[in-house]
Amino acid sequence: MEPNDFRAEDGNWWRQAVVYQVYPRSFKDSNADGLGDVRGITSKVEYLATLGVDAIWLSPFYPSALADGGYDVADYRDVDPKLGTLADFDSMISECHQRGIRVFVDIVPNHSSDLHSWFQEALVSEPGSAARDRYIFRDGKGENGDLPPNDWPSHFGPSAWTRTTTSSGVPGQWYLHLFAPEQPDFNWDNTEVIEDFKHTIRFWSDRGVDGFRIDVAHALTKDMSEPYPKIRDFDVKRIPVDGSHHLFDRDQTLEIYRGWREIFNTYNPPRVAVAEASVPTRRRPRYSSPDTLGQAFNFDLMVMPWSAAKFKKSIDLNLDLAAKSGSSSTWVLSNHDVVRHASRYGLPSRTNYDTWLMSDGTSPAPDGELGLARARAATMLILALPGSTYLYQGEELGLPEVANLPAEALQDPMWMQYGMTRKGRDGCRVPLPWNQQGSSFGFGDNGAHLPQPDWFSDYSVEIQDGVMGSTLELYRSAIALRKKLQAAEDLTWVKSPRNTVHFSRPGGWHSFTNFGAKPVTLPAGTIILASAPVVDGKLPGNSTAWVTTA
Ligand code: NOJ
Repeated sequence: MEPNDFRAEDGNWWRQAVVYQVYPRSFKDSNADGLGDVRGITSKVEYLATLGVDAIWLSPFYPSALADGGYDVADYRDVDPKLGTLADFDSMISECHQRGIRVFVDIVPNHSSDLHSWFQEALVSEPGSAARDRYIFRDGKGENGDLPPNDWPSHFGPSAWTRTTTSSGVPGQWYLHLFAPEQPDFNWDNTEVIEDFKHTIRFWSDRGVDGFRIDVAHALTKDMSEPYPKIRDFDVKRIPVDGSHHLFDRDQTLEIYRGWREIFNTYNPPRVAVAEASVPTRRRPRYSSPDTLGQAFNFDLMVMPWSAAKFKKSIDLNLDLAAKSGSSSTWVLSNHDVVRHASRYGLPSRTNYDTWLMSDGTSPAPDGELGLARARAATMLILALPGSTYLYQGEELGLPEVANLPAEALQDPMWMQYGMTRKGRDGCRVPLPWNQQGSSFGFGDNGAHLPQPDWFSDYSVEIQDGVMGSTLELYRSAIALRKKLQAAEDLTWVKSPRNTVHFSRPGGWHSFTNFGAKPVTLPAGTIILASAPVVDGKLPGNSTAWVTTA
C-alpha cells in the first residue's frame, strides 16, 4: 500500500476538515537565510500532526521576486530556489501524507509576475501580437497615448495601469494590473492561458497535491470593451448580483472552473478546491457548487464585530448558503491578509485597522488580555460548527499582530503604492517564534526577514508546549475533541440568555459562547473543554465551553 493511500478512502474528507495555512516564508527557515522554506515545513510536520490538523494550505512558494509576498508568480510549476526544490516539495508532501495530513497549494490565476517568461516575451513583442494577447495591453489615451486607458484603481494603489517602454526606450502601450504593477493581469479570453492553467493543476495533482486554494477567484474573465465603466473602488458592496460587473464575478469565470472540475474529478479521491471569491454573499454558492470549485471561503466572521447576535445570524446564513450549493461552509478568523484576531478582538469594534497600524498599534491601545480571551472563545466556537475551519499559522499560539514594524522593514506593496500612508499586511506575517530564546526564536539560525519583537518569546511554541491552559494546548485539545465528536453536518440552536450563543451537534455535543462580560451559568452536562476556567458552573465573559449531554 502506498503511504498516501489513506486519501482514497474518503472523497468527503474536506467537508469538515481543519486546514492550517502555512505562509512558507514565515514558517520555519532551514538554511539560515532568514526566509522560511520547504525543508523548514518538512521539519515541522510532527508539530502539525500533534496539532491535529487534517490538511495544510501553502501560500505561494513558486519562483517570485516577492513584489507581493509570492502572489506574483514567475513560474507556476516550480519551487522558488530561495525556498527549495521540487524534490524538497516531494519529500514534504510525502512526509505530510505519511502523517495523514493533506496538502493544498495556492493557484494564482488572475495575474502572474512581471518576470513570468510570457510577460517578458510580451514586453518585447509588438502591440497586437500573440504574446501580448495573453495579457491585457491597451493603447493610452490623450495625445501620444500618455494617459492610462481609463482611471480604474488597483487594489494596491491609485492606478490599475502601467505604461511599458519599447526596446528603443520610447513609451509604449499600457497593461492592466488589478494589484501591483509587478502583477500583470492575464487575458482569460486567450486559450493558451486557459490551457496553461489546466497544465498547472495537473502538474501539482500528479505530484500528490490534494487541494487548491484559488486566489481572487472572482476575477479572471473581464469585459474590456469600451466605453469603460466608472469603477471607483473594489468594494464588494458595489458588485451587482447579476454578473454584470466588468471585472468581477462574471459567468464566464465559472466556465473556467467547470473545466478545472473535470480535471479534479479524474483523480482518486477527486482533488478539491476552495475559492477566495469576494462576491456578494448570495453569489458565493456559484463558486462552491460541486461542478465548479466545491468550496468557497466565508470571511464573514473575520470582518464581524464581537457580537452574539451578529455571529448567530451569520452562521445561519452561511450554513444555508453551503447547503444550497451542496458544499459545506468554511469558517475563518485570520489569514495572511488581515490583522490577527487576537489583536482585533482587543480593539473597539469600529477601529480602522489601517489607521491603527499607522499609529504603530498605539491608538487606540488594544486590550491584549481581552483580545486573547475572545480569540480563544471564537476559535472554539468555529471549531464546533459544521463545515471546515481554516486556521492561520501562529493563531494557535494566540499571536497578536506586530503593529509597530519599522517603516524600513515593510515589504507589503501597499506601503509604497499608497505613498507610505498604509502599512499593509506585514504585521501578521512576522516569522513564527518556535523557541523562547535564540536567533529569531528558533525560526532560523540567522535572523528573520521581518523583525520579531522581544515579546514573541512569551508566545513561543516552547513556552506553551505541554502547559495546561496555554493557547497551543487549547487548540490541540479542541481539534482532537472535535475529531472525536464530529458527526453529521447538523446544528440545532438552543435558546440561551442574551449575549450568548448556544448550539448543539448530533450526539449531544454543545457549544456555548458568552459574548458578554459577566459570568453565565452553563447548560447542564459534562464540561469537556473551556477557553477559560469555569467557576461554580459559570462560564466567564468572553469565553466558550463545550459540554456533552450524551
Ligand atoms: C489575495 C491574497 O490573499 C493576497 O495576499 C494577494 O495580495 C492578492 N490576492 C493578490 O494576489
